[in-house]
Amino acid sequence: MFETQTLVSLGVGLAVFYIVPKILGFRRAVQSIGDWPGFRTIFSDRFLWFPFTVPGISPGPQRSFYKKYQDFAQAGVDVVSAVNYLPTPQVTYYVADPAIAKEIVGARARFPKPLEFYDILAAFGSNILVTEGDEWKRQRKIAAPAFSEKNNRLVWDETVLILHDLFHNVWGDREVVELDNAMDITVGITLLVIGVAGFGRRISWNEDSIAPQGHSMTFKAFLHSDLAAYAMLTLDALNEVSHRLFLRILFPDWILRWGTPSMRHFIRAFEEIKLYLAEMVEARRAAKTKEERYDLFSNLLDANEDELDSAAKLTDEKLVGNVFLFLVAGYETTAHTLAYALILLALNPEEQEAFYQNIKSVLPEGREPTYDDFSSLSYSLAVFNETLRWFPPVVDIPKQSAEDTTFTTTNAAGEKIAIPVPRGSYITLCAPSLHHNPKYFDEPSRFRPARFLDPGSRARDAFLPFSGGPRGCIGRGFAETEAVAALTLLVARFRVTVREEARFAGETREARAARLLRSQHSLTIYPERAPLVLTRR
Ligand code: HEM
Ligand SMILES: *[C@@H]1O[C@H](CO)[C@@H](O)[C@H](O)[C@H]1NC(C)=O
Repeated sequence: MFETQTLVSLGVGLAVFYIVPKILGFRRAVQSIGDWPGFRTIFSDRFLWFPFTVPGISPGPQRSFYKKYQDFAQAGVDVVSAVNYLPTPQVTYYVADPAIAKEIVGARARFPKPLEFYDILAAFGSNILVTEGDEWKRQRKIAAPAFSEKNNRLVWDETVLILHDLFHNVWGDREVVELDNAMDITVGITLLVIGVAGFGRRISWNEDSIAPQGHSMTFKAFLHSDLAAYAMLTLDALNEVSHRLFLRILFPDWILRWGTPSMRHFIRAFEEIKLYLAEMVEARRAAKTKEERYDLFSNLLDANEDELDSAAKLTDEKLVGNVFLFLVAGYETTAHTLAYALILLALNPEEQEAFYQNIKSVLPEGREPTYDDFSSLSYSLAVFNETLRWFPPVVDIPKQSAEDTTFTTTNAAGEKIAIPVPRGSYITLCAPSLHHNPKYFDEPSRFRPARFLDPGSRARDAFLPFSGGPRGCIGRGFAETEAVAALTLLVARFRVTVREEARFAGETREARAARLLRSQHSLTIYPERAPLVLTRR
């Protein structure tokens, strides 16, 4: 009897203090948006402990990547709502309407970033990506000059050197190169590019080989400088860290330290990287002679030294935070996109042929492209864009409304309608959904780079892989330069095909595409396993 009473009062207590407020909060949230069509679930899609897609329970993570435009097609409108009960009742709007997306990215103060979603990227120190308001403004002002035309030129020249090193010294000028996974080479390329164009450290693929033509030092000499060793280790550690960063959110440090070998490995890499970055900043500052250098890191330090207003100078902690961010943002996104590009070219031989013919017409007689060819190589950029359209590495771009406002969109009947947006609503710009909106893309599920070159195409209006406005990607030029150089050099020399494997003999074209494009995500999405063959043309 006593026990039943205790249980009953516990139950009543729970209901009154926990469940009832959630239900009331949920109801209020639904009312505040006039019951705009969408998801009504227990958890939001950002609830890390329930990362599954179950109707009524959670819309699921990375939903827009898996569903593309489907949810919006079903709703008959380009904005869909989501309201959840736990952990706190909240409104989220999913946006696949390009005009609304543009309004949002253009109005930094009205639609700031919800910084609570960025903890993972603040782990190494405050940085430009994870700040808002005046603090962001200060950091962006110092970081912006780093991404100069001179840096782009450096990115181009170094990408060319890195690929030549790969072709000659790693692949030994072989006719046929078999790759277990497209990522194996693209991660290598982008790590070496960020190593040199980000941090001024040239690293060759084969550590022991003699530096190729045009290099200023051999790898041995390079290893002799402590700074270089730090940079190298940093790059190695980085690969480990960014794939496991989510562990830091789930487990406190002391559990990681005593946890499984992979957890221990993670925490060690994490501690090392922080130390290396701090030491790199110190070493650069202590250097006596100042050379002309255009890597991001040197540019950032110079801009910080030149800042006259001492209150605006970045502290060492923020310098380290930004250096870390450049490292993460600068290689993973580009590596993953390049891998998808190679896979899509292998799966679409006609498109690859059109690309190759374009390269031949821009660069007759096998001339090697230079940075000055960048604008003539718009087809290469279109291949990169079409890949980003399908596989935008940053799947969702989160924002929040700082005020009560309304969005205007059109319904299926073509009438203008107003959507109430209460202050505090989360807004998710769903890049894959935008990128498959059939009002802007003919045959959205076809890989067709030329759509970006068609005059009159609306493709560019609904294209947001780098976000936009003042908070848009600061490294877009860096990434485009690297990608155009890498794709042009690779496809000029090699035909890219899918590697045949006995166990997949006889699979349909669709099954093969699905197998090669199957994706995972760490900080960004990447192809799980894509074996390719490169055959010299
Ligand atoms: C394919 C390659 C890339 C893609 C798709 C990409 C995408 C993005 C996106 C979507 C944002 C906005 C994120 C948000 O709102 O939370 C962003 C911001 C940023 N990106 Fe990139 N990025 C790429 C390459 C790079 C590279 C190469 C660098 C540097 C070397 C870089 C540095 C940054 C920085 C510093 C920011 C923060 C800007 C700010 O908040 O003011 N990104 N990027
Ligand atoms: C590629 O996309 C960018 C926006 O990210 C745009 O500025 C550029 O004009 C596009 N170029 C081509 C050739 O598609």
